[in-house]
This record gives sequence, structure tokens and C-alpha cells, in this order.
Amino acid sequence: MRIPFGELSTQFAAIEGEVREAMDRVFARGWYVLGEEDRAFEKAFAAYLGAAHCVGVGSGTEALHLALLAVGVRPGDEVVTAANTCVPTVCAITATGAVPRFADVDEATLTLDPAALAEAVTERTKAILPVHLYGHPCDMDPIREIAGAHRISVIEDCAQAHGSAYRGRACGTLGDAGAFSFYPSKNLGAYGDGGAVTVGEAGLAERLGQLRNYGQSERYIHVIKGCNSRLDELQAAILRVKLKYLDTWNGARAERAAAYGEALAGLPLRLPETADWATVNHHLYVVRTDRRDALLEHLANDGIGALIHYPVAAHLQPAFRDLGYKAGDFPVAERACKEVISLPLYPEMPMAHIVTVAGSIRRFLGGTGRRR
Ligand SMILES: Cc1ncc(COP(=O)(O)O)c(C=O)c1O
Repeated sequence: MRIPFGELSTQFAAIEGEVREAMDRVFARGWYVLGEEDRAFEKAFAAYLGAAHCVGVGSGTEALHLALLAVGVRPGDEVVTAANTCVPTVCAITATGAVPRFADVDEATLTLDPAALAEAVTERTKAILPVHLYGHPCDMDPIREIAGAHRISVIEDCAQAHGSAYRGRACGTLGDAGAFSFYPSKNLGAYGDGGAVTVGEAGLAERLGQLRNYGQSERYIHVIKGCNSRLDELQAAILRVKLKYLDTWNGARAERAAAYGEALAGLPLRLPETADWATVNHHLYVVRTDRRDALLEHLANDGIGALIHYPVAAHLQPAFRDLGYKAGDFPVAERACKEVISLPLYPEMPMAHIVTVAGSIRRFLGGTGRRR
């Protein structure tokens, strides 16, 4: 039996009628960009998170890029982010002309370590970009404190954190702006690319609305230099349907994560940890072992689709060689890149798959973990 890492068709089959109805509504209206669906989705997503405003854009990378521009990041400024992030976070920084600066991560949560962040901030730092990696929120209070002391902005990377929360407040409402991706495999995914920025301040929302639409304040009046990055009406209509199920799907992920925790207990494997202030959406179920590459191969031989998020730390990627970082600069992030392995997890995944995956891991590690 093959066990895929993720699978989107079962979920589509469950909501197909609603999705087709939503898409038909768009076709019947004949309005495809920046219309009723986008406005309605923005309102619904803002309400879901408890954010004052939401602006739909073309992707998560663009959400980060435009949020950085909106808070005033300019060429030559520095933006600090986590060394173990997904590369698009860094692409968004370089797209503004700013210089990415990295900081190491916390050993337990693999999110931005506030002490390391404090060291990385300089007088050129214009923004901090904490990444709620795997759906685990960053420790936002000390991060906000550092930002406040230096009068710099905080843009949260929420691409993996739809429905996650920090001390009861939703990710996306904890900084100056929250950037979301609706890439199909995200907890809230479109059927194509999409993204959104959530903000508390009306002025920022207005600037983002202009930035995504050629800098227009009204038709053919361009008040700032913008680009074209909009959430299209079909994706917005689909997201309106899917948003209604986000909590249910996150709940199904939580059940599966708990089952993994039980099935893998006792094995020589580091299981994901959740800080006591965190509500996690279980975007990824990431375990750690120093035999990672061999385990990955073993699982592949058993037909199990595990993945690595991510095998190379951002500061060691060839594209960012010019920044002057070297191996050893961020030891926690670098070790994590060698040890992490993401196990199959999606809301519709049969619970029996977890028993199979855990059995395969147990055979490999030769442990005596509890059987379910
Ligand atoms: C942490 C993180 N940041 C940014 C992105 C970029 O999102 P998108 O693929 O929608 O551009 C992703 C998704 O791939 C991500 O996982």
C-alpha cells in the first residue's frame, strides 16, 4: 500500500458540490478580478482571525513582499528572519531590495529565538519577520518587545499557521501585518495560488490595496508604485467555501497528530513539542532523528511519502551566498535541517495509515515503542 504525504482529491470530493456552485456564481457574474467574492472572503477571513482588515493578494510570497513595502521597508534596509525558514520568506525580503539577516531558532519549537533575534537587530533593521513554522507560533511577546524598543515593524509569516494562536490570539493579528499563503496544500488552500495580508491599521490596509493593484487609489490614478498581485474571484469564492471547514480540518489534523504521538512514543525519535502558550494547527508533523536520511529512504521503500522541511538552511542556500553567512553560524537551525522529517498528515488521512507509518518507523529504529 502506498501512503502519500498529502492528498487533496478526497477533500475536494467532500465539498465538490459547494465548490462548483461557488465557481458557477463567478462565471454567471462574469467578473473575475477584485470583486464581490474577494471582498466577502477578506471580510470573512478577517472576522475568523479577529483582524481589523484583510487584503487578498496573489500568493504568500507576495503577501510578505507587499506587507514589507507597506510598512516602509526600502532598498538597503535590513529585515531579520529565522535561519530555518522556507526560502520564499527570504525571496520576499530580497524583492524589496532589503538585506535579509538571519537569527537562530529555539531548540524546542524551531521558531525564532528572541535572544538570538535581539543580537541580530542593528540600526539598519527595519522589520522583523517571525515565521510560525510547521504551524507552531513564535514566542511573540519578547519579539514584539524587541521590535518596540527599536521602533521596527513585525510582519508575521503565517503561510503555515492558519488557525494557530499565541496566548489565545490568532497568528496574523500579533504584529503590524500577517502574511498568509493559500497554496493548495496549506491548511486553508485555494485551487491555485493565492495569499492575503491581515492588518490592524486602516492606513496600512489602504496602502496594501493600492500596492496590489498598480498603486491605484482609484481607476487610472496611481498614487504609489505598485504591482499586480490580486486574489482572483474564483480562488476567493473557493476559499469562502473552504474557510467554513478550516476548524474542522484543523481538528482532524490534531487527532492524527495525537495518534502519531501515541504510536511513536518510546521510540528513539524526537517528537514535535508544543509550548504551553501555543495553539498549533498541525500544518506539518515533524519528527527528528540523527538517522534522518536513512529513515527517509526506508519509508520510501515502504511506499510512504515523507518530506523534509527543509534540507538546507536559508543562510546556506546558494542564492544567498553573497550575504556572507557560513556553516556553523546558526547551529540549532542547521542541526534541525539535518534531522527533521515530516510524516504524512492531512485531515482526511485514514487513521490506519498512522499505524502503518509508525510500524515502518519502529522496524527501522528497532525500538520497542508501544503498539496501538
Ligand atoms: C513559511 C512560508 N513562507 C512563505 C511561503 C510562500 O507562500 P506561496 O507559496 O503562496 O508564495 C510558504 C509556502 O510555500 C511558506 O511555507
